[in-house]
Amino acid sequence: MSNYSIKSLEQYFRVYRRSVEKPKKFWGEIAENNFTWFQKWDKVIEFDMQKASFTWFRNAKLNITKNCIDRHLASNGDKNAIIFEPNNPGEAPRYYTYNQLYVEVSKMANLLREQGIEKGDRVCIYLPMIPELAFSMLACARIGAIHSVVFAGFSANALSTRINDSTCKMLITSDGGFRGSKTIDLKKIADEALDNSPTIKKVLVVNRTGQEVTMREGRDYWLQPLLDNASATSQAEVMDAEDPLFILYTSGSTGKPKGMLHTNAGYMVYTAYTFKNIFHYRSDDIYWCTADIGWITGHSYILYGPLLNGSTTVIFEGTPSYPSYSRFWEVIQKHKVSQFYTSPTAIRSLAKEKIEYVQGFTLDSLKVIGSVGEPINEEAWHWYNDHVGNKKCPLVDTWWQTETGGILISAIPFVTPTKPTYASLPFPGIKPVLMDDLRNEIKENQKSGNLCIEYPWPAIARTIWGDHQRYIDTYFTKFPGKYFTGDGALRDEVGYYRITGRVDDVIIVSGHNMGTAPIEDVINEHQFVAESAIVGYPHDIKGNALYGFVVLKETGLWRDRNNLIKEINQLITDQIGPIAKLDKIQFVTGLPKTRSGKIMRRILRIIAEGEESDFGDITTLVDPEIVEEIRREKV
Ligand code: WTA
Repeated sequence: MSNYSIKSLEQYFRVYRRSVEKPKKFWGEIAENNFTWFQKWDKVIEFDMQKASFTWFRNAKLNITKNCIDRHLASNGDKNAIIFEPNNPGEAPRYYTYNQLYVEVSKMANLLREQGIEKGDRVCIYLPMIPELAFSMLACARIGAIHSVVFAGFSANALSTRINDSTCKMLITSDGGFRGSKTIDLKKIADEALDNSPTIKKVLVVNRTGQEVTMREGRDYWLQPLLDNASATSQAEVMDAEDPLFILYTSGSTGKPKGMLHTNAGYMVYTAYTFKNIFHYRSDDIYWCTADIGWITGHSYILYGPLLNGSTTVIFEGTPSYPSYSRFWEVIQKHKVSQFYTSPTAIRSLAKEKIEYVQGFTLDSLKVIGSVGEPINEEAWHWYNDHVGNKKCPLVDTWWQTETGGILISAIPFVTPTKPTYASLPFPGIKPVLMDDLRNEIKENQKSGNLCIEYPWPAIARTIWGDHQRYIDTYFTKFPGKYFTGDGALRDEVGYYRITGRVDDVIIVSGHNMGTAPIEDVINEHQFVAESAIVGYPHDIKGNALYGFVVLKETGLWRDRNNLIKEINQLITDQIGPIAKLDKIQFVTGLPKTRSGKIMRRILRIIAEGEESDFGDITTLVDPEIVEEIRREKV
């Protein structure tokens, strides 16, 4: 089907126009011609933006794993589906063909069924980046269970909050995980989480590190012996288009994490179609995305998108700096990677090291390089383009969110001319609009505003698990009739979009969403802390780092400053995970607050950023003097 693969700018404009003028026809054709269905839909889309209600491919029946695996078996059964590159350089890579993937997923699916998991049950997966993570997710999808993957860097408390929110019945974890030169005690952390998560009845444990763990009888089982007895063929459950596929938690500006729910058909169609075009995927390509599967990027563009297209996808367990800063380039050379997709943070951390780490590697196999997760600054863009892409690979700066399921704004390689720091043009079917704070649409170019999307696309999240009202309030209320992204953007003179960053209280640190409120809640739990406020400030490698302003209960405790800083960061590590630690903590005697009690974060941001700029109007503050005191004592 010609429109499935966009090959010229002229074709892109034609396809785009069609996609927004006749979305039903457009998406109907994409879905019809490129996937396997048990039964077709009776309507392509039915929706109500105000109610955040979306039905795509109504009454269609399918199973996404039939599309990820079974349909490739006849033509491509012996092709590698997954290449596993272990953390430890001494350990050999593992290769799984589509035939083998079918067997692994079938065994796991049968095992889950035997263990009492049924369609609609939630299964929490807390694993390092090992093939079993992919098998577990696909096994859930095969039997209609809803997977909820929790990033293996999260703490026991964060894990248990997520398990409890979606009342998961089973946990799949491992004894431990390798990460750089460290080992992470996953089972131990999981045990702690399970003390507070009574809904988990069974725990399956992958043997990865061989370290000693405690197994609770009747609850915990080693995975391998059970798999050995499982049958190697399996029936795929017949799923409705709108049956849930997975839940993935993302942080919000307030309160507890939001369990974004994605469903089967729309997510499948959209991730497959975007993958094919945005990574210029052609058969025999070896595709590598360095994200963790615990984030949406890994769900959509390590697992589902690539497998739906019958691609070979690399799963990398390690880090960019282990055993040396050359690791990425070694892996590209070794596996002849054709598409490489990573984060600006990773690029910046490698760009600051000696250029010799990248020189001397043959990166000729690369065709396309990509960036995701945060704005990529000009310097990092050029380094990536020059030293990795060798100025010959298009660099796609892909903008999207956990909520959007797939990439919404990005160049298409060899089609859209790229422009540093610009995500560029919307993908077919996506209608971005910029809105001013008074809810008027900004029609002119060369203006910035709040980035909204005007029409639904197949992979839009359907709800926040257990709290549809919160879904409506967060995304569909501020700009009625539109999906509000929470990001600001600038549109240039030709209509290219540049994402300027969050406009709410979410801070992107190393490409990870950090809500300020949940971290402040944790700090405030410290017995000596009265209150706190967190803002972001620019950081050379992480993009943004976290700066905490903390008010203590008694001034007498200031003597213990260093200890307190350690304790506060330890609390954050325990409750959320090390990724949420603060880079700077300043103890203050008060926070700049308005008469209505609202913290003026704008002021704290200016101070944290170290700018000399004027604070603007601060007459509404209860105590304007506090501002100078805070600035004077900046750390
Ligand atoms: C930010 C990650 C600039 C943005 C896929 C968004 C980006 C948030 C880009 C979502 C990009 C992601 N340029 N900013 N190319 N990609 N972001 O849910 O602020 O982990 O709202 O999804 O990351 O983060 P999430």
